[in-house]
Amino acid sequence: MSLCKQRGFVFSGSEIYGGLANSWDYGPLGAQLKMNIKKDWWHTFVESRGDMVGLDSAILMNPRVWEASGHVETFNDPLVEDKKTNKRYRADHLIEEAIGENVDGRSLEDLAKLILEHNITSPDGNELTAPRQYSGMFKMKLGSGGEDDKLIYLRPETAQAIFTNFKNVTESMRKKLPYGIGQIGKAFRNEITPGNFIFRTLEFEQMEIEYFVEEAEWETHFEKWLTSMENWATKIGIDTSSLHRLEVPEEALAHYSKRTLDLEFDFPFGKKELWGLAYRYDFDLANHQEHSKQKMTYTDPADNSRKIIPHVIEPSMGVDRTLLALLVSAYNKETLENGDTRIVMKFKPHIAPYQVAILPLMKKNGLAEKATEVYEQLQQKFRCEYDESGSIGKRYRRHDEIGTPYCVTIDFDTLEKNTVTLRDRDTMEQTTVNIEDLEKFLSEKM
Ligand code: GAP
Repeated sequence: MSLCKQRGFVFSGSEIYGGLANSWDYGPLGAQLKMNIKKDWWHTFVESRGDMVGLDSAILMNPRVWEASGHVETFNDPLVEDKKTNKRYRADHLIEEAIGENVDGRSLEDLAKLILEHNITSPDGNELTAPRQYSGMFKMKLGSGGEDDKLIYLRPETAQAIFTNFKNVTESMRKKLPYGIGQIGKAFRNEITPGNFIFRTLEFEQMEIEYFVEEAEWETHFEKWLTSMENWATKIGIDTSSLHRLEVPEEALAHYSKRTLDLEFDFPFGKKELWGLAYRYDFDLANHQEHSKQKMTYTDPADNSRKIIPHVIEPSMGVDRTLLALLVSAYNKETLENGDTRIVMKFKPHIAPYQVAILPLMKKNGLAEKATEVYEQLQQKFRCEYDESGSIGKRYRRHDEIGTPYCVTIDFDTLEKNTVTLRDRDTMEQTTVNIEDLEKFLSEKM
């Protein structure tokens, strides 16, 4: 967290006013890293696949969507409060920690009984209130403050607009099963226990796919998507030895899911969900058909009389958690031969915020001008930073810490022989390269 703040990845939200609990702002490097994650996701799962199309829907939706989706009724968590400090906790989490047993799906009455039976207190040792249901959806009013104001919700998942647009997309794009719709966007949840930096926040971004299939084929597609998600983790540089599959037990499944497999990651605060893969069967489309009275059927092109409601496989990934897993995977602390330590963020070159740093050895003697020339040339092709302040050693260290894979140093040989020194972040090896070959050389390295 300290490195994230110092180096411009993540800042506390509203910091100059004392912050707002669990809100974070992405600084220049965090914003770029986030953009690189989203671009790679979109390229991998939407642009480069014939069976996928994209969507960018409104965050605010007709509240009937959330009635039909089951969120109004079931998107709740059991909340208890510390009677002294008024701090809030998830009742199920406190009980599970105390008795070492999974209590998913248990009623409020059961949870209350367990708290009494096992004498469970808050982490501060105080008595707890009885558990009550707490809605995970943020409510807001649409209107000018009068009685006619309409209650609407901030979406807790991006998925629903994909379902409500199923007909629009299928017809306008003439898609045939199996095919999917991908979308990246903000989601909001009134979490009882947000925390662990950017892991669990009230406002976050999701990259979601709803993949429409024939019911008989759901298992095949489920397995394929699992492999695609794991492959993407490798592609972007998530440490896959820290990635684990968790088959979510039946009693813990979301209301819309018949099977969910979480990909968990070893975060510094424990093994936790990074992404989820769910079989939402025809739950959402069937419910929208019932509530909206609009047909959500798909006509089999091989047999026009066969109309079905497709089943759905949903790979769902959080942008912020992906970024956190990338930070954790990339972070390395190394002891150098001279006993110094260096922090180096080993981001993959296509994901790193900056790909190349252009560093004049000194500002004087025409080196800054020459370096600017090289910078302007390379900037057309790579994400570059020009940096002329401080000793060259300090500049290398800074670029190690922000994960820049290559540093190009402009020295006196550049002026005399038209060569630069190229430093590799991971090996710290330095090679001499002719400026004319630099772009090609870097492209190959990337
Ligand atoms: N549409 C399905 C769905 O929303 P989910 O498992 O609740 O499923 C999907 O959320 C992903 O969104 C998670 O795997 C995680 O990466 C991310 N996510 C969920 N809640 C989050 C939160 N409060 N803060 C940050 N990311 C979150």
